[in-house]
Amino acid sequence: MKALQWILRQRPKGAMAPGDLELVEAPLRAPHTGEVRVRTIYLSVDPTNRIWMSDAEQYLPPVEIGDVMRGITLGVVEESNDPVLKEGDLVTGLGGWASHFLAPAGLLARIPAEYDLPLTAYLSVLGGTGVTAYFGLLDIGRPKAGETVVVSAAAGAVGSLVCQIAKLKGCRVIGITGSDEKCRWLTETLGIDAAINHRTEDLDARLGALCPDGIDVDFENVGGPVLEAVLGHLALKARIVLCGLISGYNAEAPEPGPVRLPMILMRRARMEGFIILDYAARFPEARKEMAAWIVDGHLHWRVDVMDGLENAPAALDRLFTGANQGKQLVRVSAEP
Ligand SMILES: NC(=O)c1ccc[n+]([C@@H]2O[C@H](COP(=O)([O-])OP(=O)(O)OC[C@H]3O[C@@H](n4cnc5c(N)ncnc54)[C@H](OP(=O)(O)O)[C@@H]3O)[C@@H](O)[C@H]2O)c1
Repeated sequence: MKALQWILRQRPKGAMAPGDLELVEAPLRAPHTGEVRVRTIYLSVDPTNRIWMSDAEQYLPPVEIGDVMRGITLGVVEESNDPVLKEGDLVTGLGGWASHFLAPAGLLARIPAEYDLPLTAYLSVLGGTGVTAYFGLLDIGRPKAGETVVVSAAAGAVGSLVCQIAKLKGCRVIGITGSDEKCRWLTETLGIDAAINHRTEDLDARLGALCPDGIDVDFENVGGPVLEAVLGHLALKARIVLCGLISGYNAEAPEPGPVRLPMILMRRARMEGFIILDYAARFPEARKEMAAWIVDGHLHWRVDVMDGLENAPAALDRLFTGANQGKQLVRVSAEP
């Protein structure tokens, strides 16, 4: 049995380039006791993949040079040497950028049977993306009805869910995104109050006009110039949820802190980072409520599927150009 695997050959300098990763074919032995062999169906493509390729200080060990690239996957068990998981079971886990992989059964999670949703939901709205939006906004941002919530990368996987949860909680929601089409989707389909195109509009001026009483909650996915603009419009006691800083993930050297940092002091604001892994014990709670919102028609979610494991680096690149329309996935093989 052989597997296709993307191997990290060197740490990217700036944006990923050819030669940073190499697609190889490698033999896969039979599963040892307690292990299973899984065929990957979908690979989740996440901004954090770029962080894992670097050796910057981070929340997991960096991927080692020569190792299979780390990635979250959904797949089907093809061979089992474990009493709990059986052939045909659908599982999620850290399968990596590979067509097939071996893993201890205990490190994989079976797809919950209680929701009647497409498989792609389990790597998006009911996967890590959904719980990030849910706990980041509700636990860290703690929005109250009537408050103004600003969301960056608002049309993206996490951002689009944050926008909708904030609306469900009775907030006024302003989204920041990178195209007029995405702005229209946010206002017309998701029903948020206003959207700003960060590529073509004066973000600072538009935030000032749209948030005359200030921003109560900023769900920050981008950082850099976007965070800089937001800091100029904070309400008293504002909460900045530091979910991600994608504008800096390809930077060759750390970016200097925001010039408007004093506004955190002047507005008595709080900025708090979080890593969703810390909420693992509470994932079922979030999934239950999110699934109910989907059934009631309150939560839209969209996935952007690229075919073929060979396209994984190109799919990751789409997150940095803004080409992705919703949660970026790679379809590695057909659904059973
Ligand atoms: N803390 C956690 O545990 C956790 C977990 C999951 C994700 N995250 C973070 O959440 C954020 C969103 O992740 P996602 O998976 O939902 O990705 P996503 O939003 O679906 O895709 C990334 C989006 O970021 C925007 N973007 C990229 N570079 C930009 C730049 N320089 N300036 C402005 N916008 C830029 C693009 O949208 P536009 O077209 O709108 O520019 C792009 O579509 C990331 O920062 C990620 O690291 C954090």
